[in-house]
Amino acid sequence: MNQEHNAATFFNSFAETFDTIYDQKRNPFMRWIDGKFRSDMFLRYTLTFEKLEPMAGRTVLDVGCGSGPYIVEAFRRGAERVTGLDPAPNMLTLVRQRLAQAGVAENRCTLMEGLFPGTPVEPHDYAIVTG
Ligand SMILES: C[S@@+](CC[C@H](N)C(=O)[O-])C[C@H]1O[C@@H](n2cnc3c(N)ncnc32)[C@H](O)[C@@H]1O
Repeated sequence: MNQEHNAATFFNSFAETFDTIYDQKRNPFMRWIDGKFRSDMFLRYTLTFEKLEPMAGRTVLDVGCGSGPYIVEAFRRGAERVTGLDPAPNMLTLVRQRLAQAGVAENRCTLMEGLFPGTPVEPHDYAIVTG
């Protein structure tokens, strides 16, 4: 099995746990650990949306979208359409839950199960590739 498939398998089994890093869902000790050792995750999230202004009316491709925090934030900032690409089906299930919770119509978001490179994607105004 090559490295890309190893990453996909790992993140598929790690999806629920990974998702708890966002939204402050973890216990106080783990939140302290995340703040101390994973602050780059929150920094890159903030910097990404600072750089990608204006978002309103734009199309966005999120490569390795994980559980979808960037997807939902892009919609919150007015993106017209977002595509999320990820090889881990459990991550894509969490994206669908996030979209439903945020009240985003599913037809505005295309979710693709696959690896990059290797999965054909249409041109978008912006591409996000983090983590
Ligand atoms: C650390 S998570 C980051 C998720 C999200 N981008 C974030 O920053 O919160 C990495 C994600 O990339 C996905 N991934 C790993 N290799 C990939 C590849 N070759 N193409 C697309 N996605 C990939 C994993 O399945 C996982 O969901």
